[in-house]
Amino acid sequence: MKTAIVVGSARNKGNTEQLSIAVAAKMSATLFNLNDYNISPFDYEFNHVNDDFLSLMKKLLSYERIILASPVYWYCASGVMKTFLDRFSDLLKVNKDLGHQLRGKLTALIATGCDQVPAPCFEEAFKLSYAYLGMTYQSMLYCCVEDDIDILHYQDQIGVFIGELIGELYAK
Ligand SMILES: Cc1cc2nc3c(=O)[nH]c(=O)nc-3n(C[C@H](O)[C@H](O)[C@H](O)COP(=O)(O)O)c2cc1C
Repeated sequence: MKTAIVVGSARNKGNTEQLSIAVAAKMSATLFNLNDYNISPFDYEFNHVNDDFLSLMKKLLSYERIILASPVYWYCASGVMKTFLDRFSDLLKVNKDLGHQLRGKLTALIATGCDQVPAPCFEEAFKLSYAYLGMTYQSMLYCCVEDDIDILHYQDQIGVFIGELIGELYAK
C-alpha cells in the first residue's frame, strides 16, 4: 500500500520531521515537507489557485494512505499544518472532484510534543477533520520529546504504530 507522510513543522529536520523520516524508512513511505511548497492561507474568494496546493494534493491522491505529521504547538497543529488543512476547504467548494477522491483513503497522525501525553483536543481535531473528509483514521504515533529527538529511543513506539497501520505484527 502506497503511503505518503506530509510533515508540517516550523523547522526542517526538527523532531517531527526526523520522526517522520524514521517511520517512512521502515514502511517505504514517501515524505512531503510542507516547507518545500508555497501554500497560501485559505481565501474565501479562492484566489490562490496558482500556488502549490492543488499540485501537491494531486500527487498525494495517488497514495492510498496519507499520514499528516505535526508538532504540538499550543495544544494544536503547527501553523504550517493548519494552513494546509484550511485549504482542504478548496476541495469541498471548488475542486470537488479531488475532495471526493479523499473518501476512503487511509490516514493517521504523527506528532511530537514535550508533554507526556498530548491534550486530547490535538488528536480530536485531526480525527474530526479526517472523518468529515470521509477518510479512515487508523492511529496516532505521539512521541514525547524532551529536547532534540533521539530516534533510537522511539523504535518500539514506531514499530507498534506501523503494526497498527499494516494490521500485522511488525518486525523491527
Ligand atoms: C510554539 C511552540 C508551542 C509549543 N506548544 C506545545 C504544547 O502545547 N504542548 C506540547 O506538548 N509541546 C509544545 N511545544 C513543544 C514542541 O511540540 C516539541 O518541542 C516538538 O517536538 C517540536 O517539534 P519540531 O522540532 O518539529 O518543531 C511547543 C513548541 C513550540 C515551539
